[in-house]
Amino acid sequence: MSRSSQHVRYRREFLRFLAASPLLAHGLGEAWAQESPAATLPKDVLSVLDFETLARPKLPPAHWGYMASGVDDNLTLQANVAAYKNVQLRPRRLVDVSKIDAGVDLFGQRFASPIFLCPVGGHRMFHADGEVATARAAKAKNTLQMLSSQTSIRVEDVIAARGGGLWYQLYIPPSWDDTEKLVRRVEAAGCPVLVWTIDVLGGRNLETATRFRQTDTRQCVTCHATPTGGRRDTVMFSGLSSARINPANATWDWVYRLKKMTSMKIVIKGIETGEDARLAREHGADGILVSNHGGRAAETLRPTVETVPEVVDAVNNQIPVLVDGGVRRGSDAFKAIAYGARAVGIGRPYTWGLAAFGQDGVERVLDILNAELTLTMRQCGTPTLAQITNTHVRRV
Ligand SMILES: Cc1cc2nc3c(=O)[nH]c(=O)nc-3n(C[C@H](O)[C@H](O)[C@H](O)COP(=O)(O)O)c2cc1C
Repeated sequence: MSRSSQHVRYRREFLRFLAASPLLAHGLGEAWAQESPAATLPKDVLSVLDFETLARPKLPPAHWGYMASGVDDNLTLQANVAAYKNVQLRPRRLVDVSKIDAGVDLFGQRFASPIFLCPVGGHRMFHADGEVATARAAKAKNTLQMLSSQTSIRVEDVIAARGGGLWYQLYIPPSWDDTEKLVRRVEAAGCPVLVWTIDVLGGRNLETATRFRQTDTRQCVTCHATPTGGRRDTVMFSGLSSARINPANATWDWVYRLKKMTSMKIVIKGIETGEDARLAREHGADGILVSNHGGRAAETLRPTVETVPEVVDAVNNQIPVLVDGGVRRGSDAFKAIAYGARAVGIGRPYTWGLAAFGQDGVERVLDILNAELTLTMRQCGTPTLAQITNTHVRRV
């Protein structure tokens, strides 16, 4: 097969993947899909993947394409999801599982669950209440929320809705003066942790998102753009010399400089090798988030769950290692924890909930995933997260 026809095939496969009903994806067949009534209330939604179907008609093509796609042929995105299906569980029996505690401590904060909300830019693209709706859901469920640098609502307003469980995701500006202003602002707002995303410093090719945008004739004036076409998602850049981010000349000593600049804990997001995990720790990182940006940065990367063990080894388990990418079931979160992750992030799944039902949708997504996780913990004989080990999983 020629390279170009292979590309066409990948693109077709991905568009089919986007169009597919979750019921069909579960192998239940078209007839069943037709008989199944569409859920009109969040409480009636049965699985996180059902939210994908409910979200799609709510969004214009450009917003849907931006959220759903990855880069190039979307292979990293698909690999993240598929990797969890290639891990099987090894349950242990006759353990007292009458009480399950899925709580987790991160930098002195206690959260109800290891499942957290990843930074996702421009929530007002998905729902008018934007990041505040997400924050209210996170607060209601005592869930960690990471706020994107590309937030459509100011950090001060989002933290008022969420409280101290809000960590700030930093896209670093090119100038240190601007970086310092931004970091001081986030610190003053009350964020305890700064998460520096380092996986898009080299640029990226959002091909599928661009294809969707080309089919969209709307002007996005109601959500994230000004009537002249400029983006509004730069609320965190007011007072800075520019809204430019992600300078390609960043190096490891920038972690050290950031660390010296603030008393916030520093987590590095976008680590994909043990070598870089070691460097991050040597330069003062307090935590690592293993991530490939949900397949939105580079193509044909390893699925993140497969990278976790080498990263945990490289830092001798001395600092927390978090992971995101491809988690669609509570059992996926269980598997990530079994491979050594302290906490497990979701991006698209809660965005589907937000698009479908606002705050209530995000809450329902968290409820479904947390219920599936605690069920898996019970079934595997692991009443606490600390009892989940790599003996409970096997890669096929
Ligand atoms: C629509 C969208 C926007 C995102 N925006 C950001 C962002 O602003 N900053 C960031 O560090 N990661 C961003 N991410 C990546 C997520 O934080 C996370 O790494 C990824 O979504 C996890 O994969 P999943 O969507 O398969 O759960 C974004 C992801 C999506 C889907």
